[in-house]
Amino acid sequence: MESKNFFVHESAYIDDNVKIGKGTKIWHFSHILSNTRIGENCIIGQNCMIGPDVKVGNRCKIQNNVSIYKGVTLEDEVFCGPSCVFTNVLTPRAFIERKAEFLPTLVKKGATIGANATVVCGHTIGRYALIGAGAVVTSDVPDYALYLGVPAKHSGWVCKCGVVLTRKTSSDGELHLTCSYCRSRYMLKGKEFTVIEEKI
Ligand SMILES: CC(C)(COP(=O)(O)OP(=O)(O)OC[C@H]1O[C@@H](n2cnc3c(N)ncnc32)[C@H](O)[C@@H]1OP(=O)(O)O)[C@@H](O)C(=O)NCCC(=O)NCCS
Ligand SMILES: [Zn+2]
Repeated sequence: MESKNFFVHESAYIDDNVKIGKGTKIWHFSHILSNTRIGENCIIGQNCMIGPDVKVGNRCKIQNNVSIYKGVTLEDEVFCGPSCVFTNVLTPRAFIERKAEFLPTLVKKGATIGANATVVCGHTIGRYALIGAGAVVTSDVPDYALYLGVPAKHSGWVCKCGVVLTRKTSSDGELHLTCSYCRSRYMLKGKEFTVIEEKI
């Protein structure tokens, strides 16, 4: 399917009542199920499955082999690394229907999910958070937090640009963090992470 607004590779399937924003590209063997909304300028890689009833924001990048099930919502500019896994049932059994028990997952604006990471359902991943490759998320993730490992633990903070914040200076109990890549500045007081100035 090709239109002047968006591109769908001929090997992809788009079900009924799907909305695709302008500039979005959907690549080989992907399947978008009914009542799904995909925003503008997204890239959906090869062998992805999205829906039914899923909302994907604008400018998201969904790499190869990602399934986004009902109950999962992606805000704008979310990056899903290759083969990362979402879930929507906490205690599945093949012989018990649990469609009424889906637990929602919300991935907020600008967050990144690393390759092969798993997001156990019922949690929110904060704005610009970064989930490392192979992590298993079993809790909510704060904005700008770096979560690594199995189960994923709070392992640091990341800049809006994605770079891990390692440059720190402290004064009066406040930790000042400066991004080595884009020079954005943040402040940490206890567990409170504040944006001072973003350059990106
Ligand atoms: C999390 C990440 C951003 C860290 O990068 P980094 O700052 O360069 O980190 P380093 O390689 O210096 O590692 C720092 C420490 O974290 C550990 N670490 C790094 N990535 C990890 C991960 N995904 N899970 C668990 N531990 C990890 C390292 O082993 C190291 O531990 P140590 O201090 O005990 O030696 C990166 O490793 C990552 O997972 N990026 C995601 C890549 C991805 O999935 N891309 C998808 C698109 S292709
Ligand atoms: Zn930065």
